[in-house]
Amino acid sequence: MQILDVNDLMQLARRRVPKMFFDYADSGAFSESTYHANEAAFGAIKLRQRVGRKISNRSLASTMVGQKVAMPVALAPVGILGMQHANGEILAARAAESFGVPFTLSTMSVCSIEEVARATSTPFWFQLYVMRDRGFVRSLIDRAKAAGCSALVVTMDLQIVGQRHKDQRNGLSTPPRLNLPTLLQLLVRPRWCLQMLGVRDRRLGNLVGHTESAKDLTSMSAWVADQFDLEFCWDDIAWLRERWGGTLILKGIMTAEDAREATLTGADAIVVSNHGGRQLDGAPSTLSVLPGIVDAVGDQLEVHVDGGIRSGQDVFRALALGAKGTYIGRPYVYGLGAMGEAGVRRALEIIATELDVTMALCAERTIAAIGPHNLEMTASVEG
Ligand SMILES: Cc1cc2nc3c(=O)[nH]c(=O)nc-3n(C[C@H](O)[C@H](O)[C@H](O)COP(=O)(O)O)c2cc1C
Repeated sequence: MQILDVNDLMQLARRRVPKMFFDYADSGAFSESTYHANEAAFGAIKLRQRVGRKISNRSLASTMVGQKVAMPVALAPVGILGMQHANGEILAARAAESFGVPFTLSTMSVCSIEEVARATSTPFWFQLYVMRDRGFVRSLIDRAKAAGCSALVVTMDLQIVGQRHKDQRNGLSTPPRLNLPTLLQLLVRPRWCLQMLGVRDRRLGNLVGHTESAKDLTSMSAWVADQFDLEFCWDDIAWLRERWGGTLILKGIMTAEDAREATLTGADAIVVSNHGGRQLDGAPSTLSVLPGIVDAVGDQLEVHVDGGIRSGQDVFRALALGAKGTYIGRPYVYGLGAMGEAGVRRALEIIATELDVTMALCAERTIAAIGPHNLEMTASVEG
């Protein structure tokens, strides 16, 4: 099968990854309206073709939070990547490293911070969920520091977990609980099963051995479910920042008010994100709120965006609307499920090629030159 775009990777992943884990990625909260709105918003933004300009010597290189990137597209934190493909976190981190973009490791990863650090030589970013057990949070920050992580991404939109119907129907768990329906899902994916046989531990690697109550799968799931902190608030950012002492990114900002609040914390960047439509169903698309947030914060911090980016044209659109950097979630998750490390690399290559061609046809040679002048302003960004 020829892999020409992100949709091809998605189709291949659907054939190779057990249903419960494919569905885990391809799902949003409740009616999934926000999940689909994220993608649809990009299509509504039309690009301005320019001609008669010299377009040789183009470059996709840029920076995100002061770090050099081959293109301004980071890999977003995604939980249990290691269930899309054996050692998924390590493979995705290696693909990002060889391509020259940041990889963000989720708190809820199968491979631990230390395992990913051992398998790579470029610093990656660590995404933190602030748990009620603050001792555990402090230890996660210290471990990320010890592993040389070059940014801490604090996720602010998951104090309570959005309900995803597909996960409930599939009885999602990691490792999978073996009953007849799940066994059938696994048996029809023998390639995936074989890879997984070589993996030592399929639990949440950052939790194993670090929390008293997370000894086996059942107690670990119960612990996690009980740990998301309803009392977490803006005041907590100060101590997180002090403990961390490095580059800080706040993820999950969807309004100008919250963006202004973020500027008061001293954070280096915010990610305009609705968690890929997996949390507040009914929230607008991230693209539709991006310009208002960029206006609200000016150059006080960098504004990044994720949600619904499926192509290099989408990256171009986000940059034109004022984002300094972007993240992809599902596109590289599908790449991983389809073809492991090579699939993540393929997702990045596809997006880079599309971004490059789009820049050329819009007559831009550098990422910094992209702006609102590249958009047809007759199109409005709908939620
Ligand atoms: C399967 C899946 C798991 C995710 N897990 C996390 C996570 O552990 N932490 C986090 O901050 N965001 C998580 N996210 C949200 C992503 O970081 C990102 O915001 C989102 O995927 C971007 O949308 P896109 O998938 O349309 O590119 C997850 C998203 C998906 C699809």
